Amino acid sequence: MIAVRDIAYVRYQVPDLDAQADFLQDFGLRAHVRTATTLQMATYNGGYPAYIAQVGPAKALGVGYQVTTLEELQRIAARFNSEVRANDELGSGWIVRLRDPDGLQVDLLHGAALIEAEPVRAALQLNTADARKRLGSTHRITVQPSHVMRLGHVVLKTVNYSEMFAFYHDVLGLRISDSYYADSEENTVAAFMHCGLGSEYTDHHTVALLNLGAKEAGFDHCAFEVLDWDDLSCGNQFLTQQNRRHSWGIGRHVQGSQIFDYWLDPVGNKVEHWTDGDLVNDSNAVSHEPLTPDALAQWAPPLSPDFLA
Ligand SMILES: [Fe+2]
Repeated sequence: MIAVRDIAYVRYQVPDLDAQADFLQDFGLRAHVRTATTLQMATYNGGYPAYIAQVGPAKALGVGYQVTTLEELQRIAARFNSEVRANDELGSGWIVRLRDPDGLQVDLLHGAALIEAEPVRAALQLNTADARKRLGSTHRITVQPSHVMRLGHVVLKTVNYSEMFAFYHDVLGLRISDSYYADSEENTVAAFMHCGLGSEYTDHHTVALLNLGAKEAGFDHCAFEVLDWDDLSCGNQFLTQQNRRHSWGIGRHVQGSQIFDYWLDPVGNKVEHWTDGDLVNDSNAVSHEPLTPDALAQWAPPLSPDFLA
């Protein structure tokens, strides 16, 4: 079974759409749709809007996922006594709207008209000690917002781990990449899951579930892939110059190996820039390891106090 091919968007409720749009543009997304009560932001790769917000008290509302075929969408709708509807919000395509066991809205999408890509510079060709490939040319990079190319993953703080794992595994077809446990191997506290695309390589995690005793279900963070390492670093410098609130980074994760940098939006939601992540398929070996203090990063500055709050 292949159901979900990739993540499409995250959906939030925020009190001030202007402040949110300003931050997201500094973060490296492109303005797409703005009404009195809603906001849609696009990536440089185009496709679905990657970030949707509506006005109201701050809250994480849900996630949209791309489903491979219309037949898959119909099969899932039938399983939940739901129906495939025309996607009025995006103006085209099809949608099935479900709720996961934690109550987050899950939009399953197929066939919407896609936002056009906007051209960006080529990713930098790096000269390394063992491979000198950039011959006779220079690097000249400007400090500016990162180029957010795509939404990569969401990390969910769950209050119903077993039910949530079953939903994302059995219904959406995600497969486990790696996991952590605490105290005993049966007590999984973090599961990193990729889209189950068989032999096709995909991000190490599209959804991760955290089972760490959260009082309330919600997002830990969402994460956007930027163009390359310099793009991430220049974005860090730009956001610092704009007095945006930094959370943690720059470092390199363990699970997924991404270079990461975490920021806080105007209401305190954690959002991640990343680049250079691992790609896996359904044949990759799966690890299940004890959670230790150094499980989050191979190298990074000291963990900031807000990061695990
Ligand atoms: Fe992440």
